[in-house]
Amino acid sequence: MDSTAREHMHRRRANFARRTADSHAAFFLPHLRPGMALLDLGCGPGSITVGLAAAVAPGPTTGVDRDPGLPEGGHDITLVPADVHDLPFPDASFDAIFASALLQHVADPLAVLREARRVARPGAVIGLVDADWDGELLHPTNPVLQRSYELMRQMRAGTSPFVGKRLRSLLAEAGFERCEGYARATHHGTPDETRGIGEFTASLFGYPASALRMVTEGWATREEMAEIQGAWRAWGEEPGAFLARFWCEAVGWAP
Ligand SMILES: C[S@@+](CC[C@H](N)C(=O)[O-])C[C@H]1O[C@@H](n2cnc3c(N)ncnc32)[C@H](O)[C@@H]1O
Repeated sequence: MDSTAREHMHRRRANFARRTADSHAAFFLPHLRPGMALLDLGCGPGSITVGLAAAVAPGPTTGVDRDPGLPEGGHDITLVPADVHDLPFPDASFDAIFASALLQHVADPLAVLREARRVARPGAVIGLVDADWDGELLHPTNPVLQRSYELMRQMRAGTSPFVGKRLRSLLAEAGFERCEGYARATHHGTPDETRGIGEFTASLFGYPASALRMVTEGWATREEMAEIQGAWRAWGEEPGAFLARFWCEAVGWAP
């Protein structure tokens, strides 16, 4: 990986690492009890995982990700590099299973939830939180920003950016019961927040692998991507800029 790619990866990871159990798992924390064995699927940099681990301690916490990590500090958490479609655990291993912002990145979320169901003990609780690109509010907007959404959808083909609204139904289909769904909106409406999300979105169009793909697939030219990056940075500096999007949540229990 070259230095630009590494810088983009670090920026994306830093963005996820701001998430905590309080910010992204408040709906799930009331269901956790000390002594539970907890599994965080797609734990990423582990910033949410540590908060969940504190809620089930002294029960064991395991984080699974293709590239798992943990924040600084001594955390009693087992990290397992693995694919969430094929978990290296026996049936009925966990009392609580969690996944934040994972299912939007896979082609078949139901397959992942069936695997989660396999490793859930009888009575285990599962909590999911994920974005849904429907219903996003953006102000102000313009044709360049709108075009960036079109390209982002093309880039995400084969994944599930509209999974949020389906979480409750997918849990039921995977064999969980008493499933409930909720939603909250995240918002970017202060100068720091709009600058941050503007810069983050711009970086998606500067990420070397994405840029190369968009050009080689003939979806966009490098000039167009540079224009999109500029438009997102300019949007972030607009005094009235505002962006809000839905994050959907669901809980259910293994029979
Ligand atoms: C958007 S990040 C979310 C990280 C963390 N859960 C959070 O909310 O901050 C998505 C994570 O899912 C992981 N991931 C995606 N598909 C995966 C798969 N098939 N198996 C394991 N991990 C996967 C990625 O490596 C990434 O760390």
